[in-house]
Amino acid sequence: MAALMARILITSALPYINGVKHLGNLVGSMLPADVHARFQRARGHQVLYVCATDEHGTPAELAAAEAGQDVFTYCEEQHRAQHDVGRAFGLSWDWFGRSSSPQNARLTQHFSEVLEDNGLIEERVDKLVYSIDDHRFLPDRYIEGTCPICGYEKARGDQCDNCNSLLDPIDLKNPYSVVSGSRNLEVRETRHLYLLQTKLQDRIRAWVDSKPHFSGLARSIAYKHLDEGLIDRGITRDLAWGIPVTRNGAPRPGFENKVFYVWFDAPIEYIGATQEWADATGADWQGWWRTDHGADEVRYLQFMGKDNVAFHTVSFPVTILGSGEPWKTVDTLKAFNHLNWQGGKFSTSQRRGVFMDSALEILPPDYWRWYLTANSPEGSDTTFTWEQFSACINRDLADVLGNFVNRILKFCEARFGGVVPDGGEPGPLEEALYADIAAKLAEVTEQFEAIEMRKNAQALRGLWVLGNEYLQVAAPWTAIKTDVDRAAVIVRTAINLVGLYARVSAPVIPFTSETISQALGETWPPAWPTSDVRAELSRIKPGRAFTTPPVLFKKIEDSDIAAWSERFGGG
Ligand code: 2FM
Ligand code: ZN
Repeated sequence: MAALMARILITSALPYINGVKHLGNLVGSMLPADVHARFQRARGHQVLYVCATDEHGTPAELAAAEAGQDVFTYCEEQHRAQHDVGRAFGLSWDWFGRSSSPQNARLTQHFSEVLEDNGLIEERVDKLVYSIDDHRFLPDRYIEGTCPICGYEKARGDQCDNCNSLLDPIDLKNPYSVVSGSRNLEVRETRHLYLLQTKLQDRIRAWVDSKPHFSGLARSIAYKHLDEGLIDRGITRDLAWGIPVTRNGAPRPGFENKVFYVWFDAPIEYIGATQEWADATGADWQGWWRTDHGADEVRYLQFMGKDNVAFHTVSFPVTILGSGEPWKTVDTLKAFNHLNWQGGKFSTSQRRGVFMDSALEILPPDYWRWYLTANSPEGSDTTFTWEQFSACINRDLADVLGNFVNRILKFCEARFGGVVPDGGEPGPLEEALYADIAAKLAEVTEQFEAIEMRKNAQALRGLWVLGNEYLQVAAPWTAIKTDVDRAAVIVRTAINLVGLYARVSAPVIPFTSETISQALGETWPPAWPTSDVRAELSRIKPGRAFTTPPVLFKKIEDSDIAAWSERFGGG
């Protein structure tokens, strides 16, 4: 493995700072990124998984105002909260940064300056919506109204949540101020910087053409935008909170009360967060991002929900390629559809759905990680229901995996004193098991590699089922009555299966895997098994003492569903 060691850079879409994220955010970005990062680390690759809070722009200002805090304090607190809940969910970021970092400010200002030098940014006089009652301009989310494309009545100024179109606030029909609700609005002139995306239309198309590893969803969204024709986009805003606009390293005249648009600086924070990590640890960041420093050998994967794809296949590439500098660009872009909340959408502003913090108040992280992986909205939008959730947990985790582990460890404890037994040689049943496990293990590995979340969970479940089937047929509880050596072989094989399951399930259910590994005296974090299944299933040798962990998964009862439906709605 070592000879083939690759460097793999992973980023997941940066969660907005405006509060702890819901399961719909998690399933389409941070969770699959984490699963993949854990898998590739276990494979022996050098992985760097960075993420950060997306702290600028109107979402942050509006949320801080609602919380009655100044935006700086608000962001500090919310960054900490998101960091802590992410860790509690097992998200194995190598760095969880902040888009408000000085590193990101420097990079963002740098990009804007080189883009302008390259003729890709120009100042334009803009006509923007000004709220007379609020005495301010109303950029992006400060204004809502009817979508000019699909007619949705609560479209935000910058994007329609219904048809996913990127919008210009001035095009909204029947607009109103989010600050005061006032419709006393007028259009005023103000100067802004524009990123001339139209100039790079052909370049971006060729770039997308050259990316065979974008998921189908990502490609189709990218081409839709390219086919519609790129538009030049304003990249500054009349706001106080954000990255100041500079020219030649000094404040840009006329832009003292303006900052960069959040969507200009947010993806740059992928690089910024890597610099934060490097500054904090003494590591080198350039080898991950600069192709003149070896980053062309890096495999770079991005994970995001479909709403973010346009920014990552058009706007950010315009920034990066337009700079003319040797930056690494994404190789694999995995996009996800929506996870809907029963009967509607998850909503951060309306606190509708299950959020990461409250999820952990009712069940441990692995329950959620498993459900979300097995029901990932890959092919189409998916709806969360408590019934489907509980059926999935009870069947896969409690009945299949949990039952197998507990049954065999308890039996060994009762009959062989909690020590892996000696005696006997593997027979035809074990030979058949090796072949079945080898085939399933290859499938599991392939699906992890392909980042097919659902197929991945299916293959894992199939691997667990093989253990139960083996025990059913081999029946050590019968064998022990007449042939202790035969029972010993079965128990030893099954305990080795438990160890194997802990290793290959770790990317998805790391907490349970660690509990099992520790109970068996196995090393943690685990290395991915080789394809030599015979050897893998005799790793744990006779004489090894183990402990039986408490029941791994408790079943979800109808009364739980009733209580949670009451608490979260959607019953
Ligand atoms: O849609 C969102 O939640 C954004 N905060 C994603 C940003 S991704 C990256 F570009 F920063
Ligand atoms: Zn719309």
